[in-house]
Amino acid sequence: MNMQYTAKIAGTGMYAPKRIVNNFDLEKMVDTSDEWIRTRTGMFERHFVADDEAASDLATHAAHKALEAAKLRVRDIDLIIVGSVTSDHAFPSTACIVQKNLGAKSCMAFDVSAGCSGFLYASDIARQFIENGSVEHALVIGVEVLSRFTNWEDRGTCVLFGDGSGAAMISRAKSTDIGRIIDTHMEADGTYGNLLIQPAGGSRLPATDETVREHKHTVHMEGNRIFKLAVKSMYNQCETVLKRNNWDVKSIDWLISHQANLRIIESLGNKLKIDPKKVIINIEKYANTSAASIPIALDEAVRAGKIRRGDVVLMTAFGAGLTSGAMLIRF
Ligand SMILES: CC(C)(COP(=O)(O)OP(=O)(O)OC[C@H]1O[C@@H](n2cnc3c(N)ncnc32)[C@H](O)[C@@H]1OP(=O)(O)O)[C@@H](O)C(=O)NCCC(=O)NCCS
Repeated sequence: MNMQYTAKIAGTGMYAPKRIVNNFDLEKMVDTSDEWIRTRTGMFERHFVADDEAASDLATHAAHKALEAAKLRVRDIDLIIVGSVTSDHAFPSTACIVQKNLGAKSCMAFDVSAGCSGFLYASDIARQFIENGSVEHALVIGVEVLSRFTNWEDRGTCVLFGDGSGAAMISRAKSTDIGRIIDTHMEADGTYGNLLIQPAGGSRLPATDETVREHKHTVHMEGNRIFKLAVKSMYNQCETVLKRNNWDVKSIDWLISHQANLRIIESLGNKLKIDPKKVIINIEKYANTSAASIPIALDEAVRAGKIRRGDVVLMTAFGAGLTSGAMLIRF
């Protein structure tokens, strides 16, 4: 590969809407229990947007924080990529709305639809723009408002999701920087697409009274099958980047996996044989925020002083598509 430059994470940010709904609140809304949700998923609280909030609002808040952390100004942004499946609109893209909100210059801005892998897919695209020299600073955001796509009559899915956003400034590394994205590996397997799908609202099944009545504009998921595929594919992508770079799992300082289910994260950790103390988990506070889960966990760990400059972080995700990926970085 002809790599002119390397890319690094220069700063991170996150935002979670103010309204917090815990498992006891959910007990009053659906036939479920705190005990079931905790033991099956590890979740306790999740944040939901206010009536007047949408994905671009959450994304803009996180973007400001990432810019500040990277000590960059809005005019430094050369590229905006948003990973989301719950955009403000089918079009224009949420990235273009964020660009307007920030007052950013006429940079390229677009969305990526890769489900819960959205942030890693978007980061990998940004990395390539930086490595080939086309841009110097890319704003990458993972944002979801899944509370707007929830079927409150399906207890198997409605308790699982939360709203939030996380952002990273991915910048060209200086020759003196130790931080850099070491390697990435992204995959998809479209043959499993129907296991996790919002069936209506697109060109296949446009909105009708019937599609609304039948909850076809909400998340439909075969949880059991997704569970097994999640562990297998995240493990495979992690192994691919580790082996390709001759890295042993013992050299990893932190593992950040997509926060979909505590049992999935623990199974992945066991399979990788990584010290559980190195696994970052915040699912109890946010539930599954899809494309936002990795950048939220990353930002929290950085601000808490867990992840420090020079640490090696392995991030891995899995989501609708089915998509999956892993990214190995020195922070
Ligand atoms: C969804 C998930 C938590 C379900 O857990 P599970 O252990 O597989 O549970 P099951 O679906 O087999 O259901 C077990 C029982 O709990 C019940 N149940 C389901 N949801 C419930 C809820 N919210 N509260 C109480 N009981 C519930 C089911 O009805 C079922 O009852 P039954 O045995 O009487 O039929 C789990 O499969 C999962 O996390 N899958 C992956 C999801 C995921 O990663 N999604 C995002 C991908 S990015």
